[in-house]
Amino acid sequence: MSERIYVTTPIYYVSDVPHLGHAYTTVVADTLARYHRLRGHDSRFLTGTDDHGQKIERMAASKGQTPKQYADGIAAAYQSCWRTLGMSNDDFIRTTDPDHEAVVQDIWRRLVERGWIVLRPYQGWYCVACEQFYPDKELDDGKCPVHKRAVERVEEENYFFKLSQWQKPLQEFYDRVLRETGRPFVEPAIRMNEVRAFVDAGLEDLSVSRATFKWGIPVPGDPRQVIYVWLDALTNYYSATRRDPSLARFWDGDAMARGELQVVHLMGKEITRFHAVYWPAFLMAAGLPPPSKIIAHGWWTVDGEKMSKTAGNVVDPNRLVADLDAVVGAKVGVDAFRYFVLREVPLGADGDFSHESLLTRYNAELANDLGNLLNRTLGMVWKYFPDDGVIRYQRAEAAPIDLASAFAAAQQEYEKAFAGFAPSKALEAVWSLVRAANAYIDKAAPWKQPRESQAAILGEVLETCRILAHWVSPVMPDKAAAILRQLGVAEAPCWPERRTSAVFHVEKATPLFPRIDDDRKKELLARWTPKPATATGTATQTATQAATTTPVKPTVTFDDFAKLDLRVAEIVAAERVPKKDKLLKLSVDVGGEMRQVVAGIAAAYAPEALVGRRAIFLANLKPAKIGGIVSEGMILAAGEEQILALSALDRDCPPGTKVR
Ligand code: MSP
Repeated sequence: MSERIYVTTPIYYVSDVPHLGHAYTTVVADTLARYHRLRGHDSRFLTGTDDHGQKIERMAASKGQTPKQYADGIAAAYQSCWRTLGMSNDDFIRTTDPDHEAVVQDIWRRLVERGWIVLRPYQGWYCVACEQFYPDKELDDGKCPVHKRAVERVEEENYFFKLSQWQKPLQEFYDRVLRETGRPFVEPAIRMNEVRAFVDAGLEDLSVSRATFKWGIPVPGDPRQVIYVWLDALTNYYSATRRDPSLARFWDGDAMARGELQVVHLMGKEITRFHAVYWPAFLMAAGLPPPSKIIAHGWWTVDGEKMSKTAGNVVDPNRLVADLDAVVGAKVGVDAFRYFVLREVPLGADGDFSHESLLTRYNAELANDLGNLLNRTLGMVWKYFPDDGVIRYQRAEAAPIDLASAFAAAQQEYEKAFAGFAPSKALEAVWSLVRAANAYIDKAAPWKQPRESQAAILGEVLETCRILAHWVSPVMPDKAAAILRQLGVAEAPCWPERRTSAVFHVEKATPLFPRIDDDRKKELLARWTPKPATATGTATQTATQAATTTPVKPTVTFDDFAKLDLRVAEIVAAERVPKKDKLLKLSVDVGGEMRQVVAGIAAAYAPEALVGRRAIFLANLKPAKIGGIVSEGMILAAGEEQILALSALDRDCPPGTKVR
């Protein structure tokens, strides 16, 4: 295991707000980074946004914004979501950062100087969604093989990168990594095989500039063209290490060659070709070292379906977490979400996200196995040592079950799992110790023992809980801190040794993960799986009751109705109003115009869950002060308090669209 590690996520397109897929990659990267910090390794974790490209230019235009304004809004939504989900990224890069742009242009110049970039006329099929040209043979019935949408014919004079000459050096590079590290450059191996097959089949030169749009980094010396968005974007991993001389140690070829530094790029499997073929070729051509490893994870579906806006099944992590916290009545959502996505699917495999399985794992593994271990242990400490809750622990010689060997086996597995980028296996190892500790209590039966044995048994379990807290900290940083606090241990996450004696001054137990009973489960599933009006469920029932008991107001004419200026608005920012539990202050985009709105929806929605959402908005309501703040319009919603539901649009309508 190297002593220095640089972990990255893809930089996400600012075409959309973050969802489960983006959150997954970022949770995996965060967990790896936290694990390495725990080991005391010199670690850096980078994420960010991919701001440029034709797709963004078009989307911004459709919303009447400049590309930068548009990108700023979505980049802020990413940053806010990552804060909510507890990401510990050391930096957040955007391809519009001026220092990044300078590095991209610098690499471009190097490639030109070395003769790897040349100007040529070009004709080809371009998919704007992929930001990629496709040769005829790769088209699927004339359409993009990934998006199944029409591709565009592009005829322009482009700069080309001579990728065709990189077949052999790339093959040698993959061989070298395998020889030197014993593992393929791309993992899992199935993705390496795909990349290999692509390279072995022969490489074509790659168009690396575009002349038909402007939203990109200008080609040095030729302002008619912008640099291809993937060359720009991939360079982020390197440019972020040039921001400060002290960061150069995270992109250092000698250190990589000596095995002292690992540069690990994490991503979904669909973009391995860019990272495993183009990126090492660009770097080597520019005289720079390639990364050490590419880890490609699988794709999430939701309840067996592809996640898509049209299907309406996109999982918004902000919303999921806020709902869990609200219904459980405790801050459990972030750690439960992180735990679930890491545990449910081995890294590399495709996975299916089901809200039902999330709740099942929550109850069985978090509330029962781990939560209850701590809860019952602290309960017994206070029961048998009611004066002060202090346990002076001395390792028991003749323990009925050997927790020492369970610890040693779990530690070995845990370490091996992280070295092999397998967080699901690391969690399995942790749970083997959780279960061993629960079994130990059952067998040792402290309730039947004399006082000295009680202290020894409980001490053994408290020490195990301390170790478990450190081990779960990369995945569940909040709950790890809560366990340590309840154990009365003032330690930051670290690599724990198993001690033979210690003094624990424990707190009274507070459940880590309160159990989700059937009613709450129903309520959560009702929130997450909208049901037709006839279905039963707490929210629907209450709304139906309200609808039937409230008399219909007197008739209005169409002219009355036409006085209302209703339109689509997008919530761009949301925050709580200090000392007003029910109110949120929103900034909404009503189609090129920003309004400040105070809405009584705080009981139903966390502010983070609202950013990026669109709703119907009454734009000509007379401004009024609510909670001391001027509100310039009204967001429409159904119901009241917690069961309130924001009005929604089942198709993509830009802000400002009229509602009739
Ligand atoms: N901007 C490029 C990446 C440039 S990196 C130099 C891009 N951005 S993206 O916004 O489309 O994000 C793609 C990444 O999001 C995937 O690689 C993956 O990490 C994540 N996911 C998006 N949808 C996903 C699923 N349904 N399931 C799992 N992860 C997926 O591509």
